[in-house]
Amino acid sequence: MLTEKWWEVAVVCPFALEDSVYWAFEQLGSKGTASQQKDDSRIVTAYFPQVQFGPSDFEQFEARLLDTTDASVQVSWKTIENEDWAKSWKTHWQPEAVGDRLLINPAWLTPPDTQRTILTLDPGSAFGTGAHATTQLCLKALEKQAITNATIADVGCGSGILSIVALLYGAKQIYAADVDPLAISSTHSNATLNGVSEAALQVELGSLPEVIAIAKQAGDLPVDGIVCNILSEIIVGLILPRLSELAGPKTWGILSGILTSKSAWVEEHLTAFGWQVVEIVHQDEWCAMTIRLADER
Ligand SMILES: C[S@@+](CC[C@H](N)C(=O)[O-])C[C@H]1O[C@@H](n2cnc3c(N)ncnc32)[C@H](O)[C@@H]1O
Repeated sequence: MLTEKWWEVAVVCPFALEDSVYWAFEQLGSKGTASQQKDDSRIVTAYFPQVQFGPSDFEQFEARLLDTTDASVQVSWKTIENEDWAKSWKTHWQPEAVGDRLLINPAWLTPPDTQRTILTLDPGSAFGTGAHATTQLCLKALEKQAITNATIADVGCGSGILSIVALLYGAKQIYAADVDPLAISSTHSNATLNGVSEAALQVELGSLPEVIAIAKQAGDLPVDGIVCNILSEIIVGLILPRLSELAGPKTWGILSGILTSKSAWVEEHLTAFGWQVVEIVHQDEWCAMTIRLADER
């Protein structure tokens, strides 16, 4: 393992702020996060490469965070070795049952005895351990779709979690993309961990245009299903304008990463782009929407 230096930044905050801190870290460019309980608080920890970040980045981060809340929040940072980072967040992560069918098992642990479908995961530095509400909402919504032999597009695949689970549930073909190169390598290695073939999970560095291009090149448009767990601003600004290029009359879509407070705003834009919301499910302050093209419900 590389012994690159990293910053470990820790925020101690009330439980209600955990997700906001998580997303603030994500926006700053964190390469991995972990969270744990401490008395009545949460400690959210994120990791940043030392070659790209310095103390002034975290001073500004702290000032912005304190500006947005009256709650008691403490921010601290220190440097660590890469190996410490891997060890530190691995100790926080245990096998987790999600929905009715799935058990997510960290790759370094022996899976428990279970009737559930086991997903073996080592997300490395990519988003998608399955612990976050937005991922769990997608995983539960996936259980309700007809997956057998489906072709599915995954925009913002992170660790590849949604793509690989869809394949484990019987999907035939996935076209995936992510703007983060670490997500691409993480998706490849998680596919291997789960015995998924490279041909069945095609993944590109990029976004929706790349997904459209690879599905089109394979002669697989429209796809049967779309999953997209990205912040609502990105969904509305970058994804919705071209999303229907993937879709046909029977295509279903699952959109997550949407704060419930923004769901009406997202729904307005969905309507404007010819989609309708079939179902909304909620977890914590997040929601996921199952959508279809409007004429075809
Ligand atoms: C919330 S994570 C979701 C990861 C995984 N699909 C899951 O459900 O856990 C969002 C992912 O979208 C990626 N992303 C952000 N903006 C994007 C964009 N415009 N196009 C494609 N991927 C994007 C991020 O790099 C990140 O991996």
